[in-house]
Amino acid sequence: MLLGSGELGKEVIIALQRLGVEVIAVDRYENAPGHQVAHRSHVINMTDGAALAELIAKEQPDLIVPEIEAIATETLVQLEQAGQANVIPTARAAWLTMNREGIRRLAGETLSLATSPYRFADSLDELRAAIQQIGFPCVIKPVMSSSGKGQSKIDGPDEIESAWNHAAAGGRVDAGRVIVEGFIDFDYEITLLTVRSLNENGDTITSFCDPIGHVQVKGDYVESWQPHPMPSTALERAREIARKVTENLGGLGLFGVELFVKGDMVWFSEVSPRPHDTGMVTMVSQVQSEFELHAKAILGLPVNTALRSPGASAVIYGQHDARAIAFDGVAEALRIPGADIRLFGKPESFQRRRMGVALAAADSVESARIRAKQAAAKVKPVMPD
Ligand SMILES: Nc1ncnc2c1ncn2[C@@H]1O[C@H](COP(=O)(O)OP(=O)(O)O)[C@@H](O)[C@H]1O
Ligand SMILES: [Mg+2]
Repeated sequence: MLLGSGELGKEVIIALQRLGVEVIAVDRYENAPGHQVAHRSHVINMTDGAALAELIAKEQPDLIVPEIEAIATETLVQLEQAGQANVIPTARAAWLTMNREGIRRLAGETLSLATSPYRFADSLDELRAAIQQIGFPCVIKPVMSSSGKGQSKIDGPDEIESAWNHAAAGGRVDAGRVIVEGFIDFDYEITLLTVRSLNENGDTITSFCDPIGHVQVKGDYVESWQPHPMPSTALERAREIARKVTENLGGLGLFGVELFVKGDMVWFSEVSPRPHDTGMVTMVSQVQSEFELHAKAILGLPVNTALRSPGASAVIYGQHDARAIAFDGVAEALRIPGADIRLFGKPESFQRRRMGVALAAADSVESARIRAKQAAAKVKPVMPD
């Protein structure tokens, strides 16, 4: 049972089905991308613990695979403890990573990994006090949010109040709690896809994909590529951090470990215990995509994290607020050498909603990035007739 059935879930579902698995897709709205390819689908509010428990009791899935953060993860923890649910990778991982405080305290305090300096605040006054400790520039984020929602980078005291209001409006639950992080002036940021799978003796092993570089605009990914070149010391440190975090979270599956890098210094930022949006590039750059790796790992099957070719992805936004939009320029996009596209089939478009992605392979990351961006630009979302 997939909890969340967006574009990432859809690919996991397809990968599982290729291995003969029956898949139930759950999302909060009808006809979500994953619903379109699953054996069965349900529409529920996944943050409603009672509704979630009822559906799990009814369907009795062998595995529960969270695809998003906004889930009643406490219910999953309870059901797992009672032996009524087997959550990927673990219910605790889903619970810890849905709240920035849980995963940050684990990384920064329990595991003593390098992170940006941070404080938490529950009110505007507490935020001012926290920023006194952290200094400027700093980044303010709701503790529960994703894709950059409610996030601001600020440079001085006059921006504190608007950052607080922005966070309050953009948080998933208006818990009104924020994290303030010191701004890291990194050279680049990467996603290190890390897989926990079983070997032939039944032992859990950890493997790493090549680093994925990406560009974020307002906290949302617009472009990614693989491999991102890294000096060997930094790469070793990145893998060490990823190994420690994923070992602690436990279970089987693929994780997206987000890291900031400057020279040989590496900071842990956050981790998704599931495929990562920047990892969509692996559909063109790896022998097995991150979705296939996740599917195989959670089933206890062997995985192969090898790179196939340098590749890149570029996001295609909706550009319209409308239902049932169409796309022009697909043929032109596909005429670009090495290019391919995925249109997710989301029933409703918003201007800044991710509706598809252009992919491209090439001999080098530089030309793959150019091709992916060219292909994305050719695809023009158009209003329905
Ligand atoms: N402390 C920070 N210093 C510098 N950049 C940051 C910091 N925190 C976030 N960012 C930037 O914002 C992006 C989104 O932040 P992140 O914490 O990953 O939020 P989300 O959960 O919404 O993905 C990061 O990928 C990075 O580009
Ligand atoms: Mg992130």
